[in-house]
Amino acid sequence: MKSAILTPSTQPSTALADLISAVRAAVRSETRPERVSPLVADLLRPYLSANDFLMPEQLVPCGETYRQHVLHVESDGSFSIVALVWLPGQATPIHDHVSWCVVGVYRGAEHETIYELAGSEADAHLTVKGHATNPKGSVAALVPPGDIHHVQNAGGELAVSLHIYGADIRKLGSSIRRRYNLDVKQPDEHMAEINVS
Ligand SMILES: [Fe+2]
Repeated sequence: MKSAILTPSTQPSTALADLISAVRAAVRSETRPERVSPLVADLLRPYLSANDFLMPEQLVPCGETYRQHVLHVESDGSFSIVALVWLPGQATPIHDHVSWCVVGVYRGAEHETIYELAGSEADAHLTVKGHATNPKGSVAALVPPGDIHHVQNAGGELAVSLHIYGADIRKLGSSIRRRYNLDVKQPDEHMAEINVS
């Protein structure tokens, strides 16, 4: 996702250091995105209730757009951990990702709409595959392709989510592979609720 990219300058909390070690072991043992992402989701889940995971400066929002705090980039570029901080109403564009991605809600709640690309090249459009409001503690794993979504702060307070990507986000500048400025066509009766754990 996009917004100001911050170079890690804060000593990681003990909890973050523990998560980094666990994710490092996971990505070294399993490189297939569809296998490693659920492993990493299970590793992230317990930290969503750890109040000392982020330092106060890593919870600072931005008035213009959601803010990305880069917490860690692995030296070999195999994974990155970031915190996204959202003021009420702030949202992403409709986008997909450069790599597998695990998202956990640390504070507040996020509303997610998931899309599918449909139609021919001349009539390319999006259909709504489902939507969900993801509360604090929820975790989801996304694996391209089929990972097109839109995310926004679903509440009236600050929302914070922790993201782990299988890529070097600092080098790439963003986790977004493509923004989708396409028409959305979807009959409501086909819309499904998406369950996250
Ligand atoms: Fe995303």
